[in-house]
Amino acid sequence: MALESAVEIAPAKGKLGVLLPGMGAVGTTFIAGVLAVRRGLAQPIGSLTQMGTIRLGKRTDDNVQPIREYLPLADLDDLVFGGWDVFSDDAYVAAERAGVLEPPLLAELAEELRAIKPMPAVFEQEYVRNLHGDNVKPEGTKMDWAMHLIEDIEAFQKQHGCDRLVGVWCGSTEIYKEPTAVHQSIDAFEEGLRQSDPDIAPSQIYAYAFMKLGIPFANGAPNLTLDFPAILELAKENQVAVTGKDFKTGQTLMKTILAPGLKARMLGVHGWYSTNILGNRDGEVLDDPDSFKTKEVSKLGVLDTIFEPQRNPELYGDIHHVVRINYYPPRGDNKEGWDNIDIFGWLGYPMQIKIDFLCRDSILAAPIVLDLVLFLDLARRAGLTGVQEWLSFYWKSPQPVAPGVYPEHDLFIQLTKLKNTLRHLKGDEPITHLGAEYYQ
Ligand SMILES: NC(=O)c1ccc[n+]([C@@H]2O[C@H](COP(=O)([O-])OP(=O)(O)OC[C@H]3O[C@@H](n4cnc5c(N)ncnc54)[C@H](O)[C@@H]3O)[C@@H](O)[C@H]2O)c1
Repeated sequence: MALESAVEIAPAKGKLGVLLPGMGAVGTTFIAGVLAVRRGLAQPIGSLTQMGTIRLGKRTDDNVQPIREYLPLADLDDLVFGGWDVFSDDAYVAAERAGVLEPPLLAELAEELRAIKPMPAVFEQEYVRNLHGDNVKPEGTKMDWAMHLIEDIEAFQKQHGCDRLVGVWCGSTEIYKEPTAVHQSIDAFEEGLRQSDPDIAPSQIYAYAFMKLGIPFANGAPNLTLDFPAILELAKENQVAVTGKDFKTGQTLMKTILAPGLKARMLGVHGWYSTNILGNRDGEVLDDPDSFKTKEVSKLGVLDTIFEPQRNPELYGDIHHVVRINYYPPRGDNKEGWDNIDIFGWLGYPMQIKIDFLCRDSILAAPIVLDLVLFLDLARRAGLTGVQEWLSFYWKSPQPVAPGVYPEHDLFIQLTKLKNTLRHLKGDEPITHLGAEYYQ
């Protein structure tokens, strides 16, 4: 049943520029994937915007529509790609080096990929110690760098005739740092940029540039790129949608699928031991303990919010949760993740679950980037601003919408919230699964 309150959504006309700080394995797998899909060479598997459906009304209405037809999302043909990287390799060379996609597919896309050349990056060695590239902005203050980024974005928009833009951080994981005084207000942050405050991370400078220009931005890494008061204040002031953080792929995806099931059946958990081997550049960066610490904090948070140990101490009050990532070059991007889960059931009897997930990280991450681009662009056209909680579905560490509000980690609740938000935007009833007479 349609409600009166449909949100006005501006049409998706013209080109949508997609700007990625970081054009490595994930970035190039996403770009090449979209190019392949729009040429009809492959299917956009794993993308909710391209393959997902949404039910409207009662089950007896039999009204299920493809999401991409239900909402005015940008067309894949209208996407234009660009970005920054500390290596000057074009998207073809970077994709080849990442080793995710097969050479024959890349060869078919070579011309388009070669035309995508990364702009010089805002980079500080201290933040990503195991990375050494020279495609970086010249010396200057952090404010100078922010201004360079703004010029880059405006020039890209002009050059490609883009109607709108979206940014997604696909750069490396930066070292772990808590926000400090410089992050607490816009004034303090801008003064910090002028003084090149060492606590301001490169990814935060990109976020600042996007916020200043009113362009929606997503953060695919576990860095605190968008998680500090100054940037959220700026997002509010300039009415920008933001979302993060850390793409939910691989082992954490499995965790957020399995853990809600154990919780739903009130099965106890003594311990969850997760280990991975990974051989791509991301693995190499994470070999630095300070970069790994950022990732570890993001990965460890998941179980606590799903199991809520404070509410069920007898089931989840004493979980030993360990996460390890080992850099192991022979595997490249094809990660292997093992989980050993010690659970217990009726009368406390112990059981074990073992998972061995031979996954492909960037293959799982690329459709997430696509969905985020299209949904953030939709959010902008629908006038949604600030932290987009309905996009928590995509994140290992969903950003809280307000201080003290815990983020939802259960994948199925996240999906319900996402779809109900889409229904709300169109003025359709949310689906609550209540009320037999309505066959909800
Ligand atoms: N692949 C996944 O499943 C997955 C899941 C969750 C999070 N992530 C995160 O996504 C990010 C990208 O992963 P990836 O596998 O593509 O890594 P990658 O190492 O292949 O690519 C990252 C790229 O970012 C570039 N870079 C680093 N700092 C930069 C800066 N300041 N400006 C511009 N470019 C910069 C690097 O040169 C590199 O090319 C990582 O932070 C990773 O932790 C990936």
